Amino acid sequence: MSASTSNLAAQVVRWQKQHGRHDLPWQQTRDPYRVWLSEVMLQQTQVSTVLGYYDRFLQRFPTVQDLAQAPLDEVLALWSGLGYYSRARHLHACAQKVVTHHAGQFPQDPATLATLPGIGRSTAAAIAAFCFGARAAILDGNVKRVLTRVLGFGEDLSQARHEKALWSLAESLLPQRDIDRYTQGLMDLGAQVCTARQPRCTLCPLRSDCVAQAQERPHDFPVKTKRTRRGRRVSVLWWLQHRDEVWLVQRPARGVWAGLWCLPERPVQDPQELGIPPAATPLLGAWADAVKREQLSPIEHALTHFDWLLLPVRFTLPSKFSLARRQHMQLAFEADLAADHAADHAAEGAPKPGQWCTIREALALGLPAPVRKLLESA
Ligand code: ADE
Repeated sequence: MSASTSNLAAQVVRWQKQHGRHDLPWQQTRDPYRVWLSEVMLQQTQVSTVLGYYDRFLQRFPTVQDLAQAPLDEVLALWSGLGYYSRARHLHACAQKVVTHHAGQFPQDPATLATLPGIGRSTAAAIAAFCFGARAAILDGNVKRVLTRVLGFGEDLSQARHEKALWSLAESLLPQRDIDRYTQGLMDLGAQVCTARQPRCTLCPLRSDCVAQAQERPHDFPVKTKRTRRGRRVSVLWWLQHRDEVWLVQRPARGVWAGLWCLPERPVQDPQELGIPPAATPLLGAWADAVKREQLSPIEHALTHFDWLLLPVRFTLPSKFSLARRQHMQLAFEADLAADHAADHAAEGAPKPGQWCTIREALALGLPAPVRKLLESA
């Protein structure tokens, strides 16, 4: 290690004391349950978004036992809008494992923490450093950017051996003391100073040691050649409305929005398609005058691996329709979903049965954010 890198940790610690964040709710505790919850929520979500969810979640589930005992549906409902729902499912599984395998106590050592669902190496290190003072290195996306820039680490992180080398470097930089402040300092630098698009190098405590800054090319770090190519999908969302009720289906256990409640969704090849379910076409034809059909504003929704254009179509059945007749209609929609899943979504497991609920009841369920917004507009 060079003289300048041995100094790096000290500079980060000093800077964190003066300029870092100190008032975030999860910084006021060493309770591993609370710290773990914050770290999982922050994995792919910004602090400003997490704040409201964090408090609400803790009010409902004050302890790991409360969370472990809760139905998954309720956890998903509270997570609704935070995105990346596999995090919520892992969170629930992790709470159960802590209760059943660890007597309700989070393990202290990072390697054991990393055996729990949804806790990767970096999250494990953050929890262990914040709660137990463990000297463990974090290396999330932000910290990768900070370290590769400072060190001028230009190897391709899509290759496992280079990623491993960066982990070793991160470990070699750890200070002997103040590990919690150092860990928070790296996070704060990554979020507030050493940002991806417009790094604020003039504010950076590592400026004089930073290779990327000296070479005036911060944007060249980190190097990652194999980026996931974003795809594009188009789907219709069928909104079947009868009196004050809407028909929702629970998404299969795997795949996008797994386990959440949703308007029935079906991929379409061509955005110009009208989105009328084929099996329901004769029915809709027979009651063409009675059923009101509206194409609502399209929704652009970005997921990790693809951009999704959602085309909501609302079918309002006349109030005078009997429950038997509306079920007849719903079954026709269901038949199309089943056919579609058999064709395209076999890997995601069978679609589950749907249910009619009021908008109010619907909003209490775990809904994907765009569907929640749509129903709120009703
Ligand atoms: N991002 C990940 N962990 C964080 C933390 N503890 N504070 C702020 N942002 C974070």
